[in-house]
Amino acid sequence: MEDKIIKIFDTTLRDGEQSPGASMNMEEKIQIALQLEKLGVDIIEAGFAAASPGDFEAISNIASVIENSTVCSLARALERDIKAAGESIEKAKLKRIHTFIATSPIHMEYKLKLKPDQVIKKAIEAVKYAKTFTDDVEFSCEDAGRSEMSFLKEIIHAVIDAGATTINIPDTVGYRMPREMGEMIRELDEFINHRAVISVHCHNDLGLAVANSLASIENGARQVECTINGLGERAGNAAMEEIVMTLKTRSDYFGGLDTNINTKEILASSKMVANITGIIPQPNKAIVGKNAFAHESGIHQDGVLKHQETYEIIKPEDIGLNDADTIILGKLSGRHAFADKIKSLGFDLSDEELDSSFERFKLLADKKKEIFDDDLRAIVTDEIVKVEEEYELINLQINDCMNGIPSSAISIKHKDEIITDAGIGNGTMDAIFKTIDRISNVKGELVDYRVNAVTEGKDALAKVTVKVIFDDSKPAVTGHGLNVDTMLSSARAYISALNSYLATKDMIFKNKSEGI
Ligand code: KIV
Ligand code: ZN
Repeated sequence: MEDKIIKIFDTTLRDGEQSPGASMNMEEKIQIALQLEKLGVDIIEAGFAAASPGDFEAISNIASVIENSTVCSLARALERDIKAAGESIEKAKLKRIHTFIATSPIHMEYKLKLKPDQVIKKAIEAVKYAKTFTDDVEFSCEDAGRSEMSFLKEIIHAVIDAGATTINIPDTVGYRMPREMGEMIRELDEFINHRAVISVHCHNDLGLAVANSLASIENGARQVECTINGLGERAGNAAMEEIVMTLKTRSDYFGGLDTNINTKEILASSKMVANITGIIPQPNKAIVGKNAFAHESGIHQDGVLKHQETYEIIKPEDIGLNDADTIILGKLSGRHAFADKIKSLGFDLSDEELDSSFERFKLLADKKKEIFDDDLRAIVTDEIVKVEEEYELINLQINDCMNGIPSSAISIKHKDEIITDAGIGNGTMDAIFKTIDRISNVKGELVDYRVNAVTEGKDALAKVTVKVIFDDSKPAVTGHGLNVDTMLSSARAYISALNSYLATKDMIFKNKSEGI
């Protein structure tokens, strides 16, 4: 039976966070980790501990709250990285260190500037050192997709002898075709011969990450690395929801292979990650896109009404999409109904979080006729990931930008003092952000701005996500704002990024640029 289970190794918090613009703060990472545990992932890759004190602390906090999933920290094959990784997961019930070094000729020659035998030596030392922190050690041959088979076998043999229990074969640049990937895994599976679990980690540069992961599973991989919504470096990683639902839907094809994932938590996980990162899956994205279960043509609608399976190979309820999603709360709904609804959406809130979310809901219900599940998900997520507010928006007035000069007057509370200022700009948004800069005396450079309507309707909540570089200190910090008024959401998002920056600016991100 054991061999029939494909382990799901989720790297949303590590490779996913490497998606341009997907950086998350500590509270956001903890909430996602808790949701991943609820989803039933076997291993949560919580981050790259040596990247910064902030990453270290986030992993360490995740390690102390997660009970059922293994918590893993990534480390290059360097003593200082492995030490940081080992210490960051110290409090975890189940812990893993994931160490890696590049094995392709191009990476060894140009990036590492090491000869193959030096790479093997470093890999052995890394695995042996990682073993002093935990028995569960994963070793990755970075850029395996472009590595030579004979060298892969040599290094894999050496690291298994040194104690590696999982061998990961990444197609780091998304280069392989599914048949090639499958053949490579088959040959390595025969070579490894059950001495370690084979894992794959496929990138999506040619749109083949899921296909390559599935081809690997067919040929002996028993762990797959993936992310929610397919987030990840460049074009992303393999989308977990697609792999899991393919195995479930085509269990006949895959000979009964299965995962430990509770698929009913897929939609909630996807929405949480989208809400937190501000990266919304495209509407036609398989499994979790807005249109994944929408039937537009009359022929299709008629068919589905006559028999669901005419045009649906997956039951919407299997991913957690229920009719209950159309149940609407309104102005007159009480705290009790609200609490029940929030619980049914899978949130487990403290009394304090419930109170503040209910307050937000009431304010929204005054402005918006119908409140949908997605409104509630957005409000609650916003509340539970809130960072301490050094600056708090008290008042915002803007001047129309059609005939006049775009301007804004803003009052912000800072340490019990209310500061008011006004400014002009090249557009209302510019005026708002410049005024906030003046009040806080911290200069921000807006590098990304996104607005999404949470639901349909002219009165929909506008969710604004901004990325801002403050005081020229990289990387950019993310902020969110949520309101029916887009300008107010924008001002809130900018201030939330400022608060995040101020809360973490001492945790220098020194290793991020050395990167992975
Ligand atoms: O893509 C990759 O090779 C990686 C490794 C660190 C596993 O992310
Ligand atoms: Zn990767």
